[in-house]
Amino acid sequence: MQAKPKIYVTRRLPDEVINWLGDHCEMDMWESEETPVPYEELERQVEEVEGLYCLLTDRIDASLIARAKRLKVISTMAVGYNNIDVEAATSRGVLVANTPGVLTETTADLTFALLMATARRITESSEFLRSGKWKTWSPLLLTGMDVYGATLGIIGMGSIGEAVARRARGFNMNILYHNRSRKPEVERELGAVYADKRTLLRESDFVVLLTPLTPETRHLIGREELRLMKNTAVLINVARGGIVDEAALYEALKNNEIWAAGLDVFEQEPVPLNHPLLTLPNVVTLPHIGSASVKTRMSMAHLAARQLVDALNGKMPAHAVNRAVWQKD
Ligand code: GLV
Repeated sequence: MQAKPKIYVTRRLPDEVINWLGDHCEMDMWESEETPVPYEELERQVEEVEGLYCLLTDRIDASLIARAKRLKVISTMAVGYNNIDVEAATSRGVLVANTPGVLTETTADLTFALLMATARRITESSEFLRSGKWKTWSPLLLTGMDVYGATLGIIGMGSIGEAVARRARGFNMNILYHNRSRKPEVERELGAVYADKRTLLRESDFVVLLTPLTPETRHLIGREELRLMKNTAVLINVARGGIVDEAALYEALKNNEIWAAGLDVFEQEPVPLNHPLLTLPNVVTLPHIGSASVKTRMSMAHLAARQLVDALNGKMPAHAVNRAVWQKD
């Protein structure tokens, strides 16, 4: 019988996924659920393995990939892969796979939940009640912004952007979008209107960021962009923290240049508790939970496992981001 391929898993996964992987591979795993594997440990572990199962918290850089002489595939349990040096992987013939699709609707739900929570000051209101500040109903107490009928600007119209736009239609929102390429079917089916970035920022009541983090999108929203936004506007970031210049966002919020922000992601995660953004009442913060429903996280965990094993068996995984690696030879 052929020896099973060796793999390393960078976090404790749900038992059924571990068992499935164990049936197909000889595996080692970082046993903690709560702390990421230290980089030095990962460096040591990748030397012998053919497959690496990782999370978005792991830095898979060129130097790590260079050490992994036997590595054939990196499978990440995430749709975003800005933590992986795909170019370095490609140049060494290593396939990289991610998990799009299975998290689309769940992430769109969270995006809308965060948008509504920010617009209607939900966390602030809850805190207000619990801390004993609620004395009476009053006309303008904790008043927020209307979502129904407002203008939504989506930056990054991928499948999650489309799923957000579908929800927005139920709220009778006007939908603007900005994307690398135009999407005629989205314009037709969802009534979304393509706009250049400046127009979208100027006209939207809610700006939702859904682009991947790349060198081109780093600090896509900075001082100048925030200045273009309405002072009643809300910024929602559910993509990656690095897309927003947080220092500029803090200034804009503090100086009432924009009205509020809802953030599921930060430049540094976990966000340090002394971060200036956490001092502002008009910021709703979440700990990167966009895809966090039980069903979706299980689907992502299984999909990443399936893709790892497929690649190790010589089968192209469903979502390889650099499939040309195999098409070359
Ligand atoms: C989550 O942020 C993901 O990229 O899947």
